[in-house]
Amino acid sequence: MKHPIYMIVAADEHHGIGKNGHLPWKLRKEYKYFRDTTRKTDNPTKQNMVIMGHKTWDSLEPEFRPLPNRRNVVLTRHAGLTAEGAEVCTSIDEAIALADDNIEKIFVLGGGQIFKEFINDPRLTGVFLTKVHKTFDCDTFFPEIPSTFKEPQKLGSDEENEISYDFLLYTK
Ligand SMILES: NC(=O)c1ccc[n+]([C@@H]2O[C@H](COP(=O)([O-])OP(=O)(O)OC[C@H]3O[C@@H](n4cnc5c(N)ncnc54)[C@H](OP(=O)(O)O)[C@@H]3O)[C@@H](O)[C@H]2O)c1
Repeated sequence: MKHPIYMIVAADEHHGIGKNGHLPWKLRKEYKYFRDTTRKTDNPTKQNMVIMGHKTWDSLEPEFRPLPNRRNVVLTRHAGLTAEGAEVCTSIDEAIALADDNIEKIFVLGGGQIFKEFINDPRLTGVFLTKVHKTFDCDTFFPEIPSTFKEPQKLGSDEENEISYDFLLYTK
C-alpha cells in the first residue's frame, strides 16, 4: 500500500529547528497550522499517521501526547521502549509498513536525526516547510532539501510576536 509521505517542519533562516530538546520559539499560530495540516484528511473516515523520533516524542508535554486524531508512531533503536498512546518501531521502514487502508497520509515530524535519515528517500512526496524569518540559537538543524524538489509553492504567511513566517510546500 502506497501512502503519500510528507515531512512537516518549521525552520529558521539558518535551518535551525531545535535547542536543548525543545522548539527554539513559541509560535501559537504556527503550531495550529502544524496541527491542522497533520490532522486534515480528504476522506473523513481516515486518519493520518505521524512518525517521530524518540527525542521529539519526549519533547511533547505528556498531556499533549499522543497527538490526538492521528496515529502516533515513535522511532527508537531500543526494542522494549514504550510510549503511552503511540506505537513504537525500530526503523522508519517498519513504521511506514504499519500504514494500512485506514491511513490517508504519513507525516514525518522529525526531529533532526529522522529528517536527515529520510530527506533523500525516494518515497518522500513533499515537505511542508514553515520558513521563520529570524535566526535563533539552535543545536538541531533541518537538512538541505534535495534538487529533485521544485521551487516551493507559497501556501500562506503569518506573523506573531514580531516574527514573520511563510508556509511553503516543496514537491517533486
Ligand atoms: N522545528 C520543528 O519543526 C521541529 C520538529 C521536530 C523536532 N524538533 C526539535 O528537534 C529536536 C529533536 O531532534 P533530534 O535530532 O535531537 O532527535 P529525534 O530525531 O527527534 O530523535 C532521535 C531518536 O530517534 C531514534 N532514531 C533515530 N533514527 C532512528 C532509526 N533510523 N530507527 C529507529 N530509531 C531511530 C533514536 O532513539 P533512541 O535513542 O531511543 O534509540 C534517536 O535517539 C528537539 O529540539 C525538537 O524540539 C523541531
